Amino acid sequence: MAAKRYHVTTFGCQMNEHDSERMKGMLDSLGYAEASERSEADLILFNTCSIRESADSRFIAHLGEAKRLKSEDPARVVGVGGCWAQSVKDEVFRRFPFVDVAFGPGQIHRLAEFLTSDSLSAQGYFEFEDFAGHLPMKRAREFQGWIQISQGCNCACSYCIVPSTRGREQSRDPDEVLAEVERLAADGVLEVTLLGQNVNSYGRDLALERRISFSELLARVDAVEGIERLRYTSPHPKDMKEDVVRAHAELRSLCQHIHLPLQSGSSAVLKRMRRTYDRRRYMDRVALIREHVPDCALTTDIIVGFPGETEEDFAETLEVAEEVGYDGAFTFVFSPRRGTEAAEMEGMLPHAVKRERMQRLVEVVQRRATERGQRFVGRTMEVLVEGPSRNDPARLRGRTRHNKTVNFDGTAAPGELVDVEITGATSTTLSGAERLLSRAL
Ligand code: 5AD
Ligand code: SF4
Repeated sequence: MAAKRYHVTTFGCQMNEHDSERMKGMLDSLGYAEASERSEADLILFNTCSIRESADSRFIAHLGEAKRLKSEDPARVVGVGGCWAQSVKDEVFRRFPFVDVAFGPGQIHRLAEFLTSDSLSAQGYFEFEDFAGHLPMKRAREFQGWIQISQGCNCACSYCIVPSTRGREQSRDPDEVLAEVERLAADGVLEVTLLGQNVNSYGRDLALERRISFSELLARVDAVEGIERLRYTSPHPKDMKEDVVRAHAELRSLCQHIHLPLQSGSSAVLKRMRRTYDRRRYMDRVALIREHVPDCALTTDIIVGFPGETEEDFAETLEVAEEVGYDGAFTFVFSPRRGTEAAEMEGMLPHAVKRERMQRLVEVVQRRATERGQRFVGRTMEVLVEGPSRNDPARLRGRTRHNKTVNFDGTAAPGELVDVEITGATSTTLSGAERLLSRAL
């Protein structure tokens, strides 16, 4: 009999991408093969996100196709995992009766359990038990790896569904994290990204004799031979302390990029968001970063149109975006998430207002990012080659330590670190040419 085939569609953040790699690795080890089209799969999986409404509706359309495929061949198995599944739990079976298995984020081992059991009825698995670090993994790129260092989040951001979908924060044992980094390095991985909902509060829940801080964890990962680039996401500004900032200046592998989610530039809005910092304290963090790592790239997340956001509040967000000059930003229109505090707040803004503010914000973000990008022009930068350029396959694409995508002329292979002379910059990408002789000089 031919091997059964699976198809996975992933929505949401890197944490989800990472979970999907584990899902695929696990399915491969169970003897499944990956199908390139959903219509060819015996097992149709969705790894869902619940951050944005648009992700939800996109996902519902995909689910509709799964329903049709299942009606054509009822032996097909449809599974839904991730944050959205967790947020609706068993309701998923009522709303979508053709779903066979549903599971929360990080519950991939339960999917295996379901597939290898003789269970005839639909099953839902929503309790976090353990890190999935021991599961096999199918990495999207051989030379890049993600490592989950914590699960859940203890913050109470009023707009965010994560605390309810991913639970209280649990840090992973440092020795376990290090063992995984060493395994990846031995496997040829050059770049690792430490993942968590709030990475820099890492360690606080660990037993005293095991406890290390986030900056200590960074130092230990940095010491692993073979790891050339170390990244992490996402940190919380409230936990961005001097030791972490200094690590960016001192550790060989830690990249010159910090993602520092702002959410709003207005202290009044930040308070209602329960972010526990205000505009001034955020700007202090930015100053601290600029002091220790002057060239560091800064990126952010910003929410537009939070309930009760006045024109003055929004003007403050624009001011901060202008003042910081982010190298890039993810901008979100506020969307109420069921069960969150903000969803019940007064002062919901009309869609047209949110859209108009978003346009103004994106304009500032893009203009500043383009301006900031000019500092790279004329420099020779180390680029980790990822593959052919998306727009022009005759060129190559890679990433600088500042996390900027570079499209360039060159001959290097994916996974190589090369020097690229930067000749141009837009708000999102750099362009240039490989310096072929630079290494020999
Ligand atoms: N509405 C809009 N954006 C949101 N985010 C989280 N929850 C919401 C919401 N309800 C954004 C935040 C976060 C990013 C991952 O998603 O900016 O940092
Ligand atoms: Fe990631 Fe949050 Fe979306 Fe879950 S809800 S997939 S944690 S972005």
